[in-house]
Amino acid sequence: MDIDFRKIREDFPILSQKIYGKPLIYLDNGATAQKPQCVIDKVNTLHCEMNGNIHRGIHFMSERCTEAYEAARSRIADFIGAASTREVIFTSGATASINTVAYSFAERYLGAGDNVITTEMEHHANIVPWQIVCQRKGAELRVIPFDDEGRLMTEQLEQLLDDRTRLLCITQASNVLGTRPDLAPVIAAAHRAGVPVLVDGCQGIVHGGVNVQELDCDFYAFSGHKLYGPTGIGVLYGKEKYLAEMPPFMGGGDMVGTVSFQKTTYAELPLKFEAGTTNYIGAIGLGEAIGYLQSHDIAALLQHEAALTRYATERLSAIDGLRIYGTQPHKCSILSFGFQGVHPFDVGMILDKLGIAVRTGTHCAEPVMTHYGITAMVRASMAFYNLPEEIDRLVEGITRALRMLRA
Ligand code: ALA
Repeated sequence: MDIDFRKIREDFPILSQKIYGKPLIYLDNGATAQKPQCVIDKVNTLHCEMNGNIHRGIHFMSERCTEAYEAARSRIADFIGAASTREVIFTSGATASINTVAYSFAERYLGAGDNVITTEMEHHANIVPWQIVCQRKGAELRVIPFDDEGRLMTEQLEQLLDDRTRLLCITQASNVLGTRPDLAPVIAAAHRAGVPVLVDGCQGIVHGGVNVQELDCDFYAFSGHKLYGPTGIGVLYGKEKYLAEMPPFMGGGDMVGTVSFQKTTYAELPLKFEAGTTNYIGAIGLGEAIGYLQSHDIAALLQHEAALTRYATERLSAIDGLRIYGTQPHKCSILSFGFQGVHPFDVGMILDKLGIAVRTGTHCAEPVMTHYGITAMVRASMAFYNLPEEIDRLVEGITRALRMLRA
C-alpha cells in the first residue's frame, strides 16, 4: 500500500512549527532527526507514571522499567540482526560506543608498533578516539583516502593491512559525502588478514538499516537521536568473542558481580559495559522509535528518501556556481555543497531566516574539508518525512541568498 508522506508528517509534531513566521523546513536530519509522537509520549509517560531505576529495585516501578529496558534491548538486537542480546550494549551515543571500543579493545589488543586503520571520510568520532589510543599505546593510525567524487579508495586497503594491524574502523555512510562504501569486500579483506572491523553506523542505520551478522562486522555503533529516538542514548554492538575478552571501560554500579577490597568480579555481558545508571528511559524511547519504523514499510520509506535525493541533486546542480561534494551512485540522502565566491555560513544564515534548517560548517569531519581545500560546506540531509516541495523551497532560498550575497 502506498504511504501518504503528507500524512506521515502529522506523526512528528515539531514539523508543523513556524520559525521566524515561516513554516519550518527541516533538512538537518543528519545532525538529529525529529521524534514521532509515540516516542515523545513514551518518554513522558515514563517520567510521569513509571520511573524506577533498573536492575536495582524489587519495587513495582523498578521491575516494570527493567522489563521495558530489556525488551528494548531485544527489539534492537532483532532490528540489527545481532545473534544475542548479550552483544547489545546501551551507551550514551555512537561517540561513547566508539570510545568504549577504543579504550577497552586497545587495552586488550593494541600495543606499541601495532596499527589501526580508519578512513579519510570519517566523522571525528571515528578518528579522534583512535588518535588518542594510538598515541597512548605507541601505535600508528593509517588512513584509506577518498577521491574527489567521494569514492572511498578501498583498493588501497591491501597495502595498508599488515601483520601489525589490529582494527579497521570505517563508516557505513559518510555524514558529509553521503557515500556508502561497499563494506562487504572490505570486511572480507580485513578478516582474511585476521583484522576485526568496527563500523560507524550513525547515518547508515537510518538510511538503509543493517544486519550485523550478514555484514559480519565485529563492532557496530549508532546513536538513538538520529534514528528518531531520544538524545543521550546509543548502542554498541560487538561480537561476544571480543566483548567477553575486553576489560570494562568504566567501573561502577551494575557492571559488577561481587565487590570487595580484595577482589571484584564483573557482571556478565552486556552489563559489564553498562556502569552506573544508564539512560534507561532513552533506551525504552529508542525501542519505541524502532517500533514506529517497523510499523511502516521501511523499504518504501527508503525509496522515498532516494527519490528526494535524486530530485534535490538535480535541482541543486542547476544552480549556477553550486558544487555538490560527493557524487557517488547509491549515496544516502545527504547532500553537501558549496558556492563559488560565497561563504556557506552566509547562505546558511539567510536560509535560517527563511525557516530552512540546514547544517553549515565542517560537519565534524574536518579532513573531508581539507581534502577539498575548503573550510565549510552547507549540508541538506533528508528524512522520509521531507517532501519535494521542501526541496523547492530550499532551492528558492539558496537562489535568493546567492542573489543577495553576490549583489
Ligand atoms: N554527527 C552529526 C552530524 O553529522 C552531528 O551532523
